[in-house]
This record gives sequence, C-alpha cells and structure tokens, in this order.
Amino acid sequence: MKVAVLGAAGGIGQALALLLKLDLPAGSTLSLYDVAPVTPGVAKDLSHIPSSVTVDGVGGDDPTAVLEGADVVLISAGVARKPGMDRSDLFNINAGIIKTLIGKVADVAPTACIGVITNPVNTTVAIAAEVLKAKGVYNKNKLFGISTLDVIRAEEFVGELKGIPSEDVFVNVIGGHSGTTILPLLSQVQNVEFTDQEVIDLTDRIQNAGTEVVNAKAGGGSATLSMARAAAVFGVNLVKALSGKQGIIQNAYVDGGNPDSPFFAQPLLLGKNGIDRVLPCGELSAFEEAKKQEMLSVLHADIKLGVDFVNN
Ligand code: NAD
Ligand code: LMR
Repeated sequence: MKVAVLGAAGGIGQALALLLKLDLPAGSTLSLYDVAPVTPGVAKDLSHIPSSVTVDGVGGDDPTAVLEGADVVLISAGVARKPGMDRSDLFNINAGIIKTLIGKVADVAPTACIGVITNPVNTTVAIAAEVLKAKGVYNKNKLFGISTLDVIRAEEFVGELKGIPSEDVFVNVIGGHSGTTILPLLSQVQNVEFTDQEVIDLTDRIQNAGTEVVNAKAGGGSATLSMARAAAVFGVNLVKALSGKQGIIQNAYVDGGNPDSPFFAQPLLLGKNGIDRVLPCGELSAFEEAKKQEMLSVLHADIKLGVDFVNN
C-alpha cells in the first residue's frame, strides 16, 4: 500500500509522517508532499528510522510523483486557527488549497481513498466531493473527513473524569467537525454513568476542545500532535481494511446517505473498497436528539458553502 501525505512539512504532517513510518504495515510506502522546500529533508530524516516502511518526499508546486500509485491520500495542507478565529475563518485560504489538491488527486490517483484533515472539514469535504464529481471520478465510499480527533478526545476526557483508562472507553461522536456540530453520544458509553450536569459539561468540552488547544498555544497554531495521532489511527486502520482485514470500524465525516445531512460523521465499517457499510448512529438520548436538531442548520450551511464554492 502507498500512503501519500499532502501538507507533510507542517505541524500535523511531520508528526503524522513519523507515526505512519512507525505504524504502517511492513512493506508500505509513505510519500510526502508539501509546498515547503524542506519536504525531501523531512523524508530523508524519517528514512533513517528503522522500519519496513519506505519514505520519499517532494517539495514545490507539483505533487504528481507523490500521488502516482497512491492507495490512500491524507491531506493536512492549509492554514490553522489562531485565538479568536473560528474554523470557518480558514475557508478563504483553505478552500482554494483543497480544490487544487483534490483536482490533482483526481487526475493522478483517481481511485485512491482520500482523508481530509484541512479545516473547515464540514466544508472542505464538500468541496472535495464536488471537484471529484466534476472530474467524473467521485466515489463516495472513498472520501472521508477525518473526525477521529473528536473521538479520541471524548474518550480521554471521559476516562479522566471517571478515573478509568481511556483505552477502555469508546465514544461514538457524530455530526460534523466544528463547535456544536460535534455531537458525542455519551448516553451510549458502556459501563459509565453521568449526571445531567456532567453530560452538559463534557459535551461542551468536547465541542470546544480544539479552541482549548488554540488558546493554550497562544497564536502558535492548533492541535498538531493529537491530530497526528488521530489521523494515524484512522489512516493505518484504513490501510488494514483496504488490505483485507475485516471488522474495522471507524467514525468519519462522509457522504453516507444519512437522512439528516448530505455529509455526516458516524460509524463506518471499512473494507477493501473504502466504506463497506455505513453503520447506524444508534439510539440518542432526548438531550442528544435536541442537540442534533439544533446543529443541523449549521452543518447544512457549511456544506452548501463548499458546494457553491466549486459550482459558482
Ligand atoms: P501548519 O501550518 O503547521 O501546516 C500546514 C502545511 O500545509 C504547511 O507545511 C504548508 O507549507 C502546507 N501547505 C500549504 N499550502 C499547501 C499546498 N497548496 N500544497 C501542499 N502543502 C501546502 O498547519 P497544521 O497545524 O498542520 O494544520 C493543517 C490543517 O489541519 C489546518 O487547516 C487545521 O485547521 C487542520 N486541522 C484539522 C483537524 C481535524 O480534526 N480535522 C485537527 C487539527 C488541525
Ligand atoms: C481541532 O479540533 O483541534 C482542529 O479542528 C483545529 C482547530 O482549529 O480547532
């Protein structure tokens, strides 16, 4: 399997590349691209780490060599938030970056699975879908907005609150990836009881966890290391599923036929062709159902912004 990372010289990209070098199945190829000229050096640096994953890297204007033969393309190219900004404030710069890069993926690696990290994910995934449609190569089973960070945060915060190992916690996080569109289904967490106030506080913390990091970094960017871990978990699981491993379930933001929204984050059974089956979100508490209804108009507007950006 060949995995390409676009934006590989950035805060997420470098850490993600390191984790993929260590965690991808033996025999995989990791190919790095970024406009930054340091990118071949990042690849060279990683290549000195003993593992059976081969690494190469290209900097500059043309990702073609990196995309050729790619089975999975993970995209973290673009700008990150600073304090006081919303993810939607990144649209003006990142929409164009995603449009251009996805156009390249469509031309060079039209059958690759694509994982979009670049914010605003609610919108950039819609942009990606429209570009792929225009190029005649859209496969909804192969396009993912990576929302794994919301899941791992929710699991860590529940573990922390309840004094249990977060490795033993599973939280189903649905919806989108910004503010109120991030909806953790705490009522489904097994073997843990929450008070009503704990549910309110924890939901709020999970929804605003990105801002917690942005503020703590005080102008130095947003989550990079936790995001790299999240994208590596998602990417390695996707590679394993594409290679034939069965029973792999991951949440991601996809065009999965959810009646609530054209794109929606929910659990997916991954398989040899990307999404094998979109799994149900499960039962929601009255609190979660109300939160879902409240956020749908935001999610729909985010998606429309992306669709209109490509088509108008
Ligand atoms: P960063 O600034 O550290 O890195 C971005 C990299 O993208 C840079 O190396 C830059 O050179 C590169 N780049 C810019 N334009 C490019 C292009 N056209 N082609 C190739 N490379 C290009 O930023 P970061 O902290 O790594 O964050 C990257 C993106 O990920 C941001 O949009 C951020 O909001 C988003 N993000 C998403 C999640 C999530 O959960 N999905 C989590 C954290 C961050
Ligand atoms: C996150 O959730 O950490 C990312 O989406 C980055 C951000 O801007 O918050």
